[in-house]
Amino acid sequence: MTGTVVIVGASRGIGASLAREFASRGTRLGLLSRNHDQLQELAAELRQQHGVQVEAATLDVCEHNSVQPIMQGMMQRLGQVDVVIANAGVTGRRRAGDGNVTEDRRVIETNLLGAIAVIDAAVAHFRQQQGGHVVGISSISAFRGIPGSGAYSASKAALTNYLDALRMELADKNIAVTVVHPGFVKTDIAPNMEKYPFAADADKVAREIADGIRHKKKNLVVPKFPWSLLLPALKSLPDSLIRKVF
Ligand SMILES: NC(=O)c1ccc[n+]([C@@H]2O[C@H](COP(=O)([O-])OP(=O)(O)OC[C@H]3O[C@@H](n4cnc5c(N)ncnc54)[C@H](OP(=O)(O)O)[C@@H]3O)[C@@H](O)[C@H]2O)c1
Repeated sequence: MTGTVVIVGASRGIGASLAREFASRGTRLGLLSRNHDQLQELAAELRQQHGVQVEAATLDVCEHNSVQPIMQGMMQRLGQVDVVIANAGVTGRRRAGDGNVTEDRRVIETNLLGAIAVIDAAVAHFRQQQGGHVVGISSISAFRGIPGSGAYSASKAALTNYLDALRMELADKNIAVTVVHPGFVKTDIAPNMEKYPFAADADKVAREIADGIRHKKKNLVVPKFPWSLLLPALKSLPDSLIRKVF
């Protein structure tokens, strides 16, 4: 795949793996997140290894008012942009009733409102460009809440629904929408991710996401195996089993 992809939340984890995967396919890239040094290091690596144009800029998706101008600046630097991926996300575990609503707020401000701000800036650009592709990284927790991570699960369920609505709204505007639901992926988003059921490598997940984007899939569950088989059962698994896992 050639073309141009902007990834928000690109400095590490799934976002960095996506950047490497797309660069290996000859794709020009715009990389954004908060960590300037990690972004610059990744950009230099990708330019050197794959000879593609890579632009990098710092962005905190929680500073909602600065998302539009920074995204707009990045997209103008790149010219034609084919895909924008809203990947930035955080987890937050807490015990219900501990009063730490601030923690839930941080999660929802990042995963939901931050993603919406990124997606809105992308759609504004794509409307002018008369076409494009918006991708949001949700989670399988959109389908079944994770105990101890209520705000995270809620943020992802809301993001999935938001993107479903957007897809219908933009159907006649030549703007595609893909919502991605990863299972557990071995990244630093939370401690001991490798111990979660069927935890997958970020590079494998990134390959599947890139293939799904190329085919403009509406919904993706990654890695496909086992999660596309398990997902229908996930909703009806007994609470006691889910509690045991988490
Ligand atoms: N790992 C999993 O098991 C899993 C499963 C399902 C869904 N997901 C989702 O996949 C996405 C990527 O997660 P990951 O596992 O790759 O996590 P990660 O390794 O912690 O990476 C998170 C990325 O988001 C960026 N980010 C976080 N807060 C940000 C902010 N306020 N503004 C801009 N960028 C921000 C981080 O960059 P900076 O720190 O440089 O800003 C980093 O690039 C998230 O949306 C996550 O919810 C992950």
